[in-house]
Amino acid sequence: MSETVQDKVDFLVIANRLPVDRKVDDDGSVSWKSSPGGLVTALEPVMQRKGGAWIGWHGAPDEVVKPFHHDGYDIHPVPLSAQEVEEYYEGFSNATLWPLYHDCIVEPVFHREWWDAFQKVNKRFAEQAAEQAAEGATVWVQDYQLNLVPKYLREMRPDLRIGFFLHIPFPPIELYSRLPWREELVEGLLGADLIGFQTPGAAANFQRLARHRPGVTAARGRAHTPDGRTVVIRDFPISIDSRGFHELATSEKVKAEAAKLREDLGHPGTIIFGVDRLDYTKGLRQRIRAVGELFKEGKLDPHEVVFLQLATPSRERVEEYKILRDDINLLVGQINSKVGSIANRALVYRNESVPREVLAAMYQMADLMLVTPVRDGMNLVAKEYIACRSNDDSALVLSEFAGAARELKQAYMVNPYDIDGMKATIMKALTDSPKIKARKMRSMRRQVFDKTIDVWADNFLTELEGQ
Ligand code: ADP
Ligand code: F6P
Repeated sequence: MSETVQDKVDFLVIANRLPVDRKVDDDGSVSWKSSPGGLVTALEPVMQRKGGAWIGWHGAPDEVVKPFHHDGYDIHPVPLSAQEVEEYYEGFSNATLWPLYHDCIVEPVFHREWWDAFQKVNKRFAEQAAEQAAEGATVWVQDYQLNLVPKYLREMRPDLRIGFFLHIPFPPIELYSRLPWREELVEGLLGADLIGFQTPGAAANFQRLARHRPGVTAARGRAHTPDGRTVVIRDFPISIDSRGFHELATSEKVKAEAAKLREDLGHPGTIIFGVDRLDYTKGLRQRIRAVGELFKEGKLDPHEVVFLQLATPSRERVEEYKILRDDINLLVGQINSKVGSIANRALVYRNESVPREVLAAMYQMADLMLVTPVRDGMNLVAKEYIACRSNDDSALVLSEFAGAARELKQAYMVNPYDIDGMKATIMKALTDSPKIKARKMRSMRRQVFDKTIDVWADNFLTELEGQ
């Protein structure tokens, strides 16, 4: 990290999160940790390749942090007060928009003071970008937390090319219409030149909404605004640095780590693996219940099979996340108290985040991967497993409600709400012939290695800059 940053840049990313989070320990010492979530996993390699600047929050309230240079690009931390964290981030972003955009799996909460904070913080991000962007620069705004930034930024700097990418689903109009500020949010996005979504369905949902704005016409992926602009609306399914993950997972160090982890788990014949942020969209309740029942019914033998589930703590002060954490702890305790033994735990559950090398080792040793969200924009975990696991005798069980299901068609598909169906599919994935599994893995590998994060970024930016 160095303190020398450029005055103005031609390429800027704005996201709520920076790639690194600032942590202040009890003794006052400061450290930087990798930030959680798919957005950072996806964008870090793009920024390392392209350079420029990343504007975002550094994860700690009430702290002003100076800009710095990191990994080949500049970082401009945006400060948030403790009250803004509560109202803009935990409130409007994660208790209003997050559940609303994920099909109202839990009830979205609407508070007028959260909306005020959301507007204020979005304005601050836009001001920071307007300050850093060179004449005619390309600015790429990321995700729902910054929904209003395209409009604010265009008002401040009409010379810029502005792209917006939504990492999460976009709901149908029937659900979206509940939002008291629906007009303002649609107008916020229409400030961009290009709006990208994970799936064609999400893009179509937005286009339908845009059409309802007075003076806007929208059809076939283009919206025409009353101020004479054309906004392109399209899907750009996001991906990962597939080769980077593969190289890491097949390195001698990580292979040795995988062997050690297998040993630590008691050398089971089969390892089933799940890794997610601890979020109610990830279908953890359903997944753990399904595997627990298979153990209880004797279909899985705890002397032979271990289910390892990691869950990164996430948004811990938001009510629904607290409820989820308690529910999962209870569920895991109930299962482990009935199946397995002191020496053989059927379910190994860790509420923690692990370093990238350890995660790669876990993917490498997992015979069966469970990715069962009840709704997910894409889900990068599914792609990471395919990139990392080099043994053909492997299987991916994937929810049909993850964006990734449109691309990884050879996965063992499940409806996570159907516990019996999920149990049957898990057993099929475990018992299918090695030939069938190998064919599926090879086909998914082709997909993941062809459609990498570089392809995603280049497609988006070519479309944006070509306009
Ligand atoms: P989301 O963006 O909703 O969190 P994704 O599946 O798209 O979901 O991305 C999650 C990212 O976070 C992946 O890159 C995954 O490797 C990483 N991740 C999730 N849980 C953990 C964990 N416990 N330890 C380390 N990395 C994790
Ligand atoms: O991918 C969805 C997303 O909400 C990203 O915007 C975010 O960086 C990630 O998940 C993790 O969430 P949070 O930033 O709230 O910890």
